[in-house]
Amino acid sequence: MFLQPLNHPIRHWQGMMIWVVGASSGIGAALAKAMLKQGAHVAVSARTASALESQFQPEVNAMVLPLDVNDSLAWQQAHEQILQRWGQVDMLVYCVADYVPERVWEMQPDRARQMVLTNLAAYYDALAILLPDMLLAGKGHLALIASVAGYVGLPKATVYGPTKAALINLAEILYNDLHALGINVFLINPGFIATRLTEKNDFEMPALLSPEQASAAIMAGMACGDFEIHFPRRFTRWLKLVQLMPYRWRFALMQRLVST
Ligand SMILES: NC(=O)c1ccc[n+]([C@@H]2O[C@H](COP(=O)([O-])OP(=O)(O)OC[C@H]3O[C@@H](n4cnc5c(N)ncnc54)[C@H](OP(=O)(O)O)[C@@H]3O)[C@@H](O)[C@H]2O)c1
Repeated sequence: MFLQPLNHPIRHWQGMMIWVVGASSGIGAALAKAMLKQGAHVAVSARTASALESQFQPEVNAMVLPLDVNDSLAWQQAHEQILQRWGQVDMLVYCVADYVPERVWEMQPDRARQMVLTNLAAYYDALAILLPDMLLAGKGHLALIASVAGYVGLPKATVYGPTKAALINLAEILYNDLHALGINVFLINPGFIATRLTEKNDFEMPALLSPEQASAAIMAGMACGDFEIHFPRRFTRWLKLVQLMPYRWRFALMQRLVST
């Protein structure tokens, strides 16, 4: 039987107004550049203004809007600037994360709280700001980058993992509520990508991709109208299998990972 895609496929980027938050480096920067190349207008945000300016200022169709996602007022001000110049936001891509690899006993509560705010809670600000216009228009696209670290409890993902599991759960809820109202929801679950974030890992990362390969996989998934865009599949499928294992097997596997 032919299955309909879960989202409306995006095959034409020309003229789309996209806001990529977390675009100063890594996957977000690569994705923003790829979208600009396809003819989209892209507003780019992150805290480091200099990194945004050096990469995007020369682009005619880019708008540099530095912000800290934990500042609600900054979200509103940046949104107003986009509306003034472009009139609307067609797509929000949330590529923001903080990550500290740590075993449970290394966790520091203040740092943990901050990570939960940045990785998860700040996204609710974005939703509150963007949803009213999208609901009124009966169209729009929400793309959020979670992680395969949200599939299962991985070693050293003490705070990062739960925030990603929560984003996966939230994406399902968003899809349930918003798809029928014309809004696409894309859940993006990358495996290991060589970025500033994974530089912190002290182990060999299997099936490592570049940010450019990640952005190509994301845009290909959007062109197919996939709800979950996960890559590279040779790694993510393996983790999906682990997710299906009984806990006894899963825990045994994780013990082997932490002891190597
Ligand atoms: N790399 C991987 O293997 C991998 C795997 C699965 C999922 N992911 C996810 O992919 C997304 C992008 O990560 P990446 O790997 O590309 O890492 P990255 O290069 O460190 O990108 C993270 C981005 O988030 C921004 N950011 C962090 N805190 C912020 C804050 N408080 N306010 C505004 N912006 C903030 C950073 O910019 P500033 O520091 O300039 O603010 C940067 O632009 C994240 O959601 C990450 O969890 C990555």
